[in-house]
Amino acid sequence: MTVYEAAGEATLREIVADFYRQVPEDEILGPMYPAEALAAAEQRLCGFIIYRFGGPQTYIEERGHPRLRMRHAAFRIDQAARDRWVELMDAAIARQDLAEEIATPIREFLHESATFLINVG
Ligand code: HEM
Repeated sequence: MTVYEAAGEATLREIVADFYRQVPEDEILGPMYPAEALAAAEQRLCGFIIYRFGGPQTYIEERGHPRLRMRHAAFRIDQAARDRWVELMDAAIARQDLAEEIATPIREFLHESATFLINVG
């Protein structure tokens, strides 16, 4: 069973929605995200996560290969930005009633990807 099937699409969407509800008020991440396009940004991250955890490939159809390092090159992602991103995601995941064996792979993937996206020393 995929994480997508085990968690359900609605739960994955709610995690991302929860994350984006926290972004505008955040002093590190708030200024990095396009305030006028937060809904579109939420859709992109949702689509990516759904695809990555075994759901429909809509993200790939719409955006092509994720190329996440390249797509984050315009943003200054240091350790503090990475840590805050992870912190908001962990809080969103914790607010869902997920079994540990489902929450753990989601957290691990997001933590590792976030570390990989650090692009300033
Ligand atoms: C490390 C901290 C991170 C920061 C500061 C950050 C910041 C951003 C920002 C500002 C955007 C532009 C919003 C938009 O218009 O789409 C973005 C896009 C995106 N981010 Fe991140 N991000 C981080 C980590 C991650 C991680 C860990 C993932 C995946 C697991 C991810 C996946 C995406 C995706 C899929 C997009 C849309 C790419 C596209 O199709 O154009 N990001 N990110």
